[in-house]
Amino acid sequence: MKVSSKAQIEQKVEALLELMTLEEKIGQMSQIRHFEESADKHVTEKFIGSIIHTQGPNPGKTALGWQKRFIKLQKKALSTRLGIPLLFAVDAVHGQNTFEGATIFPHNVGLGATGNENLVQEIAEITALESQATGFNWVFSPCVAIPFNEKWGRVYEAFSESTELTEKLTRASVKGHQGNLADPKTVMATAKHFVGDGATDFGVEGGNTSLSRAGIKERLLAPYRMAVKENVGAVMASFNTVSGISMHAHKSLITDVLKADMNFDGIVVSDWKGYSRFGKNDIINAGIDMIMAVDGDLEDFQKGVKRGVETDTIAMSRIDDAVKRILRQKFRLGLFENPFPDSTLVSKIGIKKHRNVARQAVRESIVLLKNKNKVLPLDKETKKIVVVGEHANSSGLQSGGWTVNWQGTKENYKGATTILEGIKKHAKGNVVYDKEPTQNHFDADIAIIVVGETPYAEFFGDIGHESNTRKLTLTEEHQNYIKTYSEKGIKTIVVLVSGRPLVVTDQIETSDAFMATWLLGSEGDGVAEIIFGDFNFSGKLPHSWPKSEEDYKGKYGPNFWDKTIQPLYPLGYGLKY
Ligand code: BGC
Repeated sequence: MKVSSKAQIEQKVEALLELMTLEEKIGQMSQIRHFEESADKHVTEKFIGSIIHTQGPNPGKTALGWQKRFIKLQKKALSTRLGIPLLFAVDAVHGQNTFEGATIFPHNVGLGATGNENLVQEIAEITALESQATGFNWVFSPCVAIPFNEKWGRVYEAFSESTELTEKLTRASVKGHQGNLADPKTVMATAKHFVGDGATDFGVEGGNTSLSRAGIKERLLAPYRMAVKENVGAVMASFNTVSGISMHAHKSLITDVLKADMNFDGIVVSDWKGYSRFGKNDIINAGIDMIMAVDGDLEDFQKGVKRGVETDTIAMSRIDDAVKRILRQKFRLGLFENPFPDSTLVSKIGIKKHRNVARQAVRESIVLLKNKNKVLPLDKETKKIVVVGEHANSSGLQSGGWTVNWQGTKENYKGATTILEGIKKHAKGNVVYDKEPTQNHFDADIAIIVVGETPYAEFFGDIGHESNTRKLTLTEEHQNYIKTYSEKGIKTIVVLVSGRPLVVTDQIETSDAFMATWLLGSEGDGVAEIIFGDFNFSGKLPHSWPKSEEDYKGKYGPNFWDKTIQPLYPLGYGLKY
């Protein structure tokens, strides 16, 4: 593999830019979906720079089918006058989660609980490989938000409320994804969402953060600085406003802080339909380099920017800066020499070796909050174990949003193991399943009760959002699962599946053992390995844990992080046997 030096890449970028027309430049700045009706035509006629895959029709039935679709689009791009290859981007945020059959890792909140940077790096390497195997060279990950507010529906996409921990794991993640970028097994990473996504007042997705400039600097910028230091290829702008100014149009934070102060030389990519939603040419002038010009935005974007240049409201130097950043990454990735995915990688998707790493991550991410009378580890010879709750028997429910679908799935998906399957595999006695307490198993020696949140992503996960009736507590139904069994005098081990800490003070009180497993991904049997004591617990809370819903009021408004509030458990808490 030949790697060009920085200086050589800069020369190539300059030389190519020289040859480009304005239309070709604006084309490079455009990202579209692969299944749009005229996608192929747009690649050649509108000189598209990048393709995105997220929710929506899959590019094919098999991994090779996905590759084939992208190879076709790539050939189109290469057939244009200048033959500039496409970037193929995907929301692979816990493994290549858009491809059913890929290895799905715990979401970042769980990785935060592991605190294990080597593991996070390895996970990113595997995600890069499985993403390449399905035809991508760019992932929209890691999310390096510092969530201040559990009401935010994206808490689980971020590592931790601790800036230091986030910084450490960001470094590992960027390193793991990108490695030596020209290696066809790695992908370009994206630090997102710049900046303040997790710090909005009341945890509203796309809301306003009233954090001061000093507060932003102190709490939120460090992970970006680290990502840039590790040469992250892209940074995605955030939906939120900062003190009323849209982040997409925030020139001082994007251009002065990120690009100038931090010396970021990669691509600032907009978020979904960023151009039409957040100020059109203002966002280009603020420093956004590539636009998700999806769902009908393409024409408006391309024409609008062209008009902007022609009327001198966008400087040509701004366009050149954007295009240079995009070309630079394409050269760094070696796409001009190696534009196509490697078909031999297909055989690596979801292999045992990858799943073993995911299972290790599951074990290390689980945080033990209570273990009364040493009920754990559970004896494998226990005569009768009843496993309760729909979350125990569904790999979809245990995995959360951004799994197979954007908003996740409640169904089992290919290649995954459920928590129940894992318990059955490891137990030597009788294991029965009671989806909801039926009275049939009140003779059990122990009840393992799996409760928690149903999958969500983005806006749909915000507590208080009009789309849902979510609360910071368990549903009454789930509370009753625990109550019913404990009232019968049966010892209970509660397994909480959730994307954030929930207010479960009473349920912790009622149960004998209580563990937080976050959103664990495809390897549900990691839970059994730790319940039965094959491994000890090592997970530590990546967030302070609320005692009551009231408690967190102070954390939510402009006065978040009210120091007078004592959480039930502090950041970093976690028991062992
Ligand atoms: C999300 C991003 C994601 C993008 C592309 C947006 O709605 O905020 O995190 O990368 O969609 O799917």
